Amino acid sequence: MANLKELFLPMLALCIMCPLAFAIDEDLLVVEYHIHIINDLPSDLPPNIPALSLHCKSKDKDLGEKNMLEHQDYTWDSRINLLRTTLFFCNARWEGKQRYFEAFKATRDEHRCRVYHNSCLWSMRHDGIYFSNDNSSWTNEYPW
Ligand SMILES: *[C@@H]1O[C@H](CO)[C@@H](O)[C@H](O)[C@H]1NC(C)=O
Repeated sequence: MANLKELFLPMLALCIMCPLAFAIDEDLLVVEYHIHIINDLPSDLPPNIPALSLHCKSKDKDLGEKNMLEHQDYTWDSRINLLRTTLFFCNARWEGKQRYFEAFKATRDEHRCRVYHNSCLWSMRHDGIYFSNDNSSWTNEYPW
């Protein structure tokens, strides 16, 4: 009988804690993340002619080619899948330069992009592609 009691308490503790552990993960799975890509590139072209071309996709979703005007903000939403393999990658072309970058990656962004309206912010600039998770401090994560 003593053995049963010794087993029972740890089991009870596990049963209480397990749903909590799942709840934390489930919470992340229902979050809708907003991915913003802002064209902050200087352009010699007239403002109505796009100088930046973006092509973003994931394994099963192609967002198509997007030509961006100056200061345009291109946004889409994504959730994280159960295995946390969600990944959106983009190819950016600007004045003969080309750069591949990961606009949303579950394992990298699931926490850092929850700080400011569940948003991942990218700013395309003359020396690289800058990231921000608060819309105030920016770091160049992908130099051209
Ligand atoms: C970031 O801040 C600027 C003003 O500083 C504002 O115009 C813009 O809408 C903000 N972006 C987002 C995604 O909230």
